Amino acid sequence: MVQGIPLLAALLPSLSTATLYSTYKFNPLEHLGGVAPYFESQDPPTSPTPPKGCTPVRAAYLSRHAAIYANDFDDEEYMEPFISKWENHTGIDWSKIPSLSFLSDWSAPFSEAEQELLTRLGKLEATELGISLSFRYPGFRLPQRVWTSSAERTAKSAQALVRGFELQDDTINVVTIYESEEAGADSLTPYKSCPAYSSSAGSDQASVHLKTFTKPIIARLNKLAPTFNFTAEDVYGMMAMCGYESVIRGSSPFCSLDLFTPNDWLGWEYTADIMYHYNTGYGSNAAGTVGLPWLRATASLLMDAAPAQDLYVSFTHRELPPTVIVAMGLFNNSEFGGGDVNETMPLDRINHRRAWKSSHILPFLGNIAIERLNCTGSPGFADGEYYRALVNNAPQPLPDCGGGPGTSCSRQGFETYLEDRTAMFEGFSEKCGVEYKNSTDSLTIYTDPKLAHEPRIK
Ligand SMILES: *[C@@H]1O[C@H](CO)[C@@H](O)[C@H](O)[C@H]1NC(C)=O
Ligand SMILES: *[C@@H]1O[C@H](CO)[C@@H](O)[C@H](O)[C@H]1NC(C)=O
Ligand SMILES: *[C@@H]1O[C@H](CO)[C@@H](O)[C@H](O)[C@H]1NC(C)=O
Ligand SMILES: *[C@@H]1O[C@H](CO)[C@@H](O)[C@H](O)[C@H]1NC(C)=O
Ligand SMILES: *[C@@H]1O[C@H](CO)[C@@H](O)[C@H](O)[C@H]1NC(C)=O
Ligand SMILES: *[C@@H]1O[C@H](CO)[C@@H](O)[C@H](O)[C@H]1NC(C)=O
Repeated sequence: MVQGIPLLAALLPSLSTATLYSTYKFNPLEHLGGVAPYFESQDPPTSPTPPKGCTPVRAAYLSRHAAIYANDFDDEEYMEPFISKWENHTGIDWSKIPSLSFLSDWSAPFSEAEQELLTRLGKLEATELGISLSFRYPGFRLPQRVWTSSAERTAKSAQALVRGFELQDDTINVVTIYESEEAGADSLTPYKSCPAYSSSAGSDQASVHLKTFTKPIIARLNKLAPTFNFTAEDVYGMMAMCGYESVIRGSSPFCSLDLFTPNDWLGWEYTADIMYHYNTGYGSNAAGTVGLPWLRATASLLMDAAPAQDLYVSFTHRELPPTVIVAMGLFNNSEFGGGDVNETMPLDRINHRRAWKSSHILPFLGNIAIERLNCTGSPGFADGEYYRALVNNAPQPLPDCGGGPGTSCSRQGFETYLEDRTAMFEGFSEKCGVEYKNSTDSLTIYTDPKLAHEPRIK
């Protein structure tokens, strides 16, 4: 018995943190919203393999650009102020502070010139997507064109994807769509042409939760380095640095769970989710209107009797995919409860059960796909044409559009679904409050003959 006590004491600490059957794992990189490197969250864990008897015969992808050095807003608001403060505090001996000792010989991972450029990992991610698509759709005709908005990071992502896709060079054209503020719905950045969309929407709400979740972290860090005077913005920037430094250098000391705990990361993620909820999600009155034109244009290409291509891929920025998610009715917190969607994102505590998780929607290279399937002899289902949606490779049931094999829905069901979504969100120019001339409510870039002969970008 006497000997049992020290043995028990030795066991206790490990028992209290990780029990025999605990498989608890936590990767901060999967909770970093728009700063997460591409990963597949399997949300929901439905199988990406086509249902039995079904073959994809056409598909369209809308992808955010791949990993970049730093987003200018994140840098100016959060990371640069922290870096400059750290550079000024030469009096602190970081090497004596265990969880922050790396700051004694750390260096900022990016320069201002590099800011918005694609990283090496970004190029790799986009090339890998090209290869994955060629594996997934072996029977498709090679696309003649891939579309991108005009920023360098989106255009380079498109070029990297093309490199992965084609065996011989020089066959796929990259068509660049100018990021106009007066294009109506006819661009890959329609939010820029929509006055009702505000790029700062969500900041006020997110800052409420930012203050809440960082309070204990600030107290902890200020105890370690009393003269630094850590702020909520410093903490947010340090945590964002985990994502950016990882996609630049392959790893980051800021990701350490000794520095920020899993619960700290969940607080960061929820803050970002509140921002995207009001900015481009269900809490924005413009979101569905901005996202609908891509859904409609894409659906008509897929349903068309003879479209020019089997596969349509387009690159844009982080704002567009979540608006398309709203237009499609995916990741809707109130889908099974109804009620006021804003109440599903309380600012004073985390709704861990939310469907709306930006890390699952818009990591770097985050993408939305719609596939047209030909199904023959699928057990329990009539032969014919079916449609299904995938977000980051996870098949998503469409609201009120099920009944097909897997998560798919029939052509007729899909038509009704499109009518319902259109009724909710149509009227881009009017709902956006457009005041410029020549606006349009539809996206025509995929069929516009003027764009057919765009010179190839090298
Ligand atoms: C899809 O199935 C229809 C018949 O149901 C057939 O006419 C068509 O050729 C098929 N398309 C492809 C690409 O296999
Ligand atoms: C760092 O020091 C410089 C020069 O004293 C000052 O201009 C700057 O505002 C300081 N930055 C921060 C974040 O304290
Ligand atoms: C610490 O930072 C806060 C917020 O920026 C500021 O209001 C306060 O004056 C600072 N305190 C010290 C001691 O520098
Ligand atoms: C959610 O909040 C936003 C911002 O306050 C507001 O514009 C929107 O109308 C609200 N949505 C609902 C459904 O109440
Ligand atoms: C979200 O789900 C609720 C409940 O089903 C529904 O009333 C609402 O229209 C949905 N929102 C969107 C934008 O589809
Ligand atoms: C609108 O379109 C017409 C016809 O294409 C063109 O002549 C006119 O210059 C355009 N106006 C603006 C403001 O772009």
